[in-house]
Amino acid sequence: MARFTLNGKSTQVDVEPNTPLLWVLREQVGLTGTKYGCGIAQCGACTVHIDGVAVRSCVMPVSAVEGKKITTIEGLAQGNTLHKVQQAWIAHDVPQCGYCQSGMIMAAAALLKDKPKPTDADIDAAITNICRCGTFQQVREAIHMAARAKA
Ligand code: FES
Ligand code: FES
Repeated sequence: MARFTLNGKSTQVDVEPNTPLLWVLREQVGLTGTKYGCGIAQCGACTVHIDGVAVRSCVMPVSAVEGKKITTIEGLAQGNTLHKVQQAWIAHDVPQCGYCQSGMIMAAAALLKDKPKPTDADIDAAITNICRCGTFQQVREAIHMAARAKA
C-alpha cells in the first residue's frame, strides 16, 4: 500500500513496496504519458516530478514516494492552460516520434523552476534525457523560448 498526491489528487495504490513508480503510474493508475525506455535511469523517458524535482520513475520504488507530491505530464498544465514549456514545444515543433518527449518536457520544466534563465551549458548539464530522433537542438531552443515567456 502506498499513498501520495498525484497531479493534485490524493491517491492510494495496493502494490508491493518495491514496485517502481513508473509501473504504478502506468498500470495501476492508468497514466501512460510517462514512458518506459531503459528501466535503468539512463534515458529519462520516465521523468516525473516528485515534490517539484525531476526524478526517473523507473528506478524509484513506490515506497519512497509515500506522502509526496507527484506531477506527471498529464498534470503539468493548469486547467486548460498549457505549461510554458508545453507551449514552447508546440511553437518549435519539437517532437518527432514523441516517445521521449514527455520526459524531456518534465525535465525542462524542472530546470526552469530551478534556473529561470538557463544557459546552453545549464541545459546540456540538466537535460541528459536521450532522444533517438535527435531533437536536442529543438529542445534547447524551446527551453530558451519558454524561459522568455511570462507565465
Ligand atoms: S525508463 Fe527510466 S530512465 Fe529510461
Ligand atoms: S522524439 Fe523520438 S525519441 Fe525523441
